Amino acid sequence: MELKIGNEQDIHTWEEVILIYHSALKQINTKIEILNDEFQQVHRYNPIEHIKSRIKTSESIVKKLKRHGYDVTIENMVKYVNDIAGIRVICSFSDDIYQIADMISNQSDIRTIAVKDYIMNPKSSGYRSYHMVVTVPVYLSDRIIDTRVEIQIRTVAMDFWASLEHKIQYKFEGNAPTHINTELLECAHMVSELDTRMLALNNEIQEIAAQKEREKLEMQKVN
Ligand code: GTP
Ligand code: MG
Repeated sequence: MELKIGNEQDIHTWEEVILIYHSALKQINTKIEILNDEFQQVHRYNPIEHIKSRIKTSESIVKKLKRHGYDVTIENMVKYVNDIAGIRVICSFSDDIYQIADMISNQSDIRTIAVKDYIMNPKSSGYRSYHMVVTVPVYLSDRIIDTRVEIQIRTVAMDFWASLEHKIQYKFEGNAPTHINTELLECAHMVSELDTRMLALNNEIQEIAAQKEREKLEMQKVN
């Protein structure tokens, strides 16, 4: 039996939503874990600190649909909500972010449908992160469904800032006093500076390690 090529519009029940987006998350999670394992083997270094994934709660999906003025239907959920399945990849250094994004989007079964680079163009809040919306095929018994997953890639430092800022905005319901927003923006600049310095430090350390390795090989040749 030939598998039908379906799309997200073929999802009709909440149970199907959970099953399909959960499966898509598993696929992406595994792909990223494999890339991390391979990177560890080849470069002796782990670009990924950790990965978090979640399915958006039904409450949040409903809130988002209402905020955008759409009726609350399964059809509208899968049509308009890009982040029903979300995964966050936390890296050590800012250079790792683009490498990981490239490695993901280069895979032939993954289609990148949107990219927002809030590292090159930070938000006015100071938020920095690299966002991609991709589709990954989910194989069911009788069809294949290309399913959207939102991937956020950021450094540990960017993640630290974002989670704190999120908590603060939540407390003030998005209307934090101006001086707090100004302070947060200043902290975001410090975080960015920290990322730059840590990256430079890491590059220097890598260079020293490579030099040591070369010297060791030379010594072995001489002996
Ligand atoms: P949402 O409706 O929130 O999903 O926004 P969007 O569809 O315009 O997409 P965008 O790429 O701007 O943001 C998606 C996600 O990025 C949010 O759900 C947050 O997880 C994160 N994010 C975006 N802006 C900020 C920010 O200023 N602060 C923090 N802490 N997180 C942010
Ligand atoms: Mg969102």
